[in-house]
Amino acid sequence: MNKQGTVIWLTGLSGAGKTTIARALSQRLEAAGLLVETLDGDEVRENLSRGLGFSKPDRDTNVNRIGYVAKLLARHGVTVIVPVIAPYRDTRSDVRRLVENDGSEFVEVFVRCDLQTLIERDVKGLYKKALAGEVKNFTGVSDPYEEPLAPDVLVDTFAETVEQSAAKIFAKLEALGLFTPTASPRNPFAVSEVAPAR
Ligand SMILES: Nc1ncnc2c1ncn2[C@@H]1O[C@H](COP(=O)(O)OP(=O)(O)O)[C@@H](O)[C@H]1O
Ligand SMILES: [Mg+2]
Repeated sequence: MNKQGTVIWLTGLSGAGKTTIARALSQRLEAAGLLVETLDGDEVRENLSRGLGFSKPDRDTNVNRIGYVAKLLARHGVTVIVPVIAPYRDTRSDVRRLVENDGSEFVEVFVRCDLQTLIERDVKGLYKKALAGEVKNFTGVSDPYEEPLAPDVLVDTFAETVEQSAAKIFAKLEALGLFTPTASPRNPFAVSEVAPAR
């Protein structure tokens, strides 16, 4: 049985909805019996990447570290959700290569939202500070964000609900065969239609 898993990378600006959609998606995937882990940007920066800043080299190190851990988890059949900005195109494609060369799937999801809406939402109050120059190197305001040119899934959080966005990603994973029993292991503890061993 092929035990390789999937890395679902949710890239997009701060406040676009990456964490929120990751939670909704995680619930759906767990309900479908998959083993799921989420490597959230804010949490990773408190742990795995504590001390790193927001220069390009530091951002690249952060993204590469997350990609490495995601690859290891996926190798064992885990579905890894990564709601992390990852602003640079070349770094995202490096991580895709790392995961794919290891035999797992990589799904890039562009969580898109226009800047005006983000400034209005300003969930963490960071846009206000960034626009006032109080927060430096803020992605989309005073630091680059390179939009995916050909994401595997595009979700528009200005126009969609969280559930609609999560459903779009779920549908893509279904199309990739993630839920066929031979493509990915099921959680042995989940109550599902797991066939008896013999
Ligand atoms: N369609 C949508 N999808 C995701 N989040 C949305 C949507 N509409 C509004 N929101 C809100 O936008 C905010 C997104 O915050 P968050 O998920 O933390 O963003 P990020 O992780 O990308 O920084 C949340 O307060 C969420 O409730
Ligand atoms: Mg987040």
